[in-house]
Amino acid sequence: MLRFAVFVSGNGSNLQAIIDAVKRGDIKAELALVISDRENAVGLKRAEKEGFPARVFSPKDYTNRQSVDRDMVITLRNEKIDFIVLAGYMRLLTAFFVNKFPKKIINVHPSLLPNFKGVNGIKDAFTYGSKVTGVTIHFVNEKMDNGPIIMQEPVCVLEGDTKEKLEKRIHKAEHRIYPRAIQYYVDGRLKIRGRQVKILEELPDEKKK
Ligand code: GAR
Repeated sequence: MLRFAVFVSGNGSNLQAIIDAVKRGDIKAELALVISDRENAVGLKRAEKEGFPARVFSPKDYTNRQSVDRDMVITLRNEKIDFIVLAGYMRLLTAFFVNKFPKKIINVHPSLLPNFKGVNGIKDAFTYGSKVTGVTIHFVNEKMDNGPIIMQEPVCVLEGDTKEKLEKRIHKAEHRIYPRAIQYYVDGRLKIRGRQVKILEELPDEKKK
């Protein structure tokens, strides 16, 4: 079974959806480690409560970004982590880190990329007056919110919406599609060619046994 790590910075509602999917058997991989850059992240408490190992790599304990990422790579290698899932991890990973896990890091972003990159995707789309925004699941490269897109789901901004109401519907969409995308990855159904990601209809032969 593939082993994966989830990275969180905040509430960890996506982590919870992933944990639930692992427990139901909808994600057939082992959640081996939860990592956070913030020791007070609610996501860490969720991991603890559910009995998954968690570690904090706080930037304030390091002199620069690469040294944090270097330590994380060592830990991930020791833990034999096969792939990484970012779930509200609000730090940009260095090229050094990304190159250690090529095409093995997935992220969820709360907008239809390339619109509204960054840490305020929902607020920025709402403030801009977008009529449609949504959720993007994508592979991570060294640029922010830039890697090849795996899945997108539109979410309409409704008459009388508030940012909070919109946020709720976006999170609901995230919790529904992120575990599915992760299982596509685990099944080897995601084929990347340049910026295009194809989702194979069937399991590849080596996964059929
Ligand atoms: C999610 O909406 C996720 O898409 C977003 O942070 C939120 C985390 O919520 N990620 C980004 O904005 C990445 N640029 P959660 O901690 O409850 O899962």
